[in-house]
Amino acid sequence: MSETVELFEVGPRDGLQNEKALISAQDKIALVNLLSTAGFTRIEVASFVSPKWVPQMATSAEVLAGIARAPSVSYAALTPNMRGFDGAMSARADEVAIFGSASEGFSKANINASIADSLERFAPVAAAAKAHGIPVRGYISCTINCPYDGPTSPEQSARIAKALHDMGCYELSLGDTTGHAYPDEITAMLRAVKAAAPKAKLAGHYHDTSGRALANIEASLAEGVRVFDTSIGGLGGCPYAPGALGNVATESVAARLETLGYTTNLNPAVLERAAKMALGLRGKGQGDV
Ligand code: HMG
Ligand code: MG
Repeated sequence: MSETVELFEVGPRDGLQNEKALISAQDKIALVNLLSTAGFTRIEVASFVSPKWVPQMATSAEVLAGIARAPSVSYAALTPNMRGFDGAMSARADEVAIFGSASEGFSKANINASIADSLERFAPVAAAAKAHGIPVRGYISCTINCPYDGPTSPEQSARIAKALHDMGCYELSLGDTTGHAYPDEITAMLRAVKAAAPKAKLAGHYHDTSGRALANIEASLAEGVRVFDTSIGGLGGCPYAPGALGNVATESVAARLETLGYTTNLNPAVLERAAKMALGLRGKGQGDV
């Protein structure tokens, strides 16, 4: 039997958050409902952040209320602070994610906090999640380089990974936020992080700005990573990482993994329909683009 690699679908969050024109909750719900039939076990659908910082995610509670939940899918939400956590709990998110950075510049630009201050903010969120029995995932952005500070050392990424692991994160999602990493840089980062946290708890989150995300996934597979965050249709980017393009496309990664002999348990026909739907949402917003 071939080995399974899990794709964590982040399109409804990371994919759509960067779209300038506001997409209706109904359209987002239709996309999530279709994705829920593709075979994913985790889909990130919401983000309880300030609507002033990311207006596109202001409909997150409406989206979580409107989707037809598949019992086998965990519906995830980003929660930068306790206010976000409370919002996610009221909206019945199945799991939450705190999101930090390995670089000071991106931390400040993205969540208006130094790394040290962000870890202080995350600690009560992780504690509350534990008290509610809600899994909490930890994102680490800019593990290779930062749009503001330049290269990040593997040791620095490992330090933040350890801090989030010690806080109780069940999985650490390692971001190439700018999407410019090379496979050897990914390998060096993963080797350092593996010394700080168990490899079974690591996920790759690679944006595809330079077209090397698939090569970076192959480098990660060689290091034992078996979970990757992907975005249907390759949509997305982060509004606070200038120039960064979307996550690597789910359908491309799924096809590549099957060619490499791995199983994803995803239905390619559904992925194709969902990619068309996701790309159709681009520019189909209700505001000015
Ligand atoms: P701040 O300005 O430092 O915080 O923002 P504040 O506490 O002073 O609050 C400012 C305003 O936001 C206040 O409202 C708060 O009430 C409100 P006002 O008084 O001005 O009307 N507020 C909130 N509203 C809704 N939900 C909340 C919340 N918290 C405060 N949870 C804050 C700090 C973290 C809130 C802000 O910086 C923020 O929302 N940042 C989010 C940025 C973001 O979402 N970026 C994209 C996601 S991260 C990403 O894409 C990377 C990732 O994909 C991995 C990778 O690729 O590397 C995960
Ligand atoms: Mg991202």
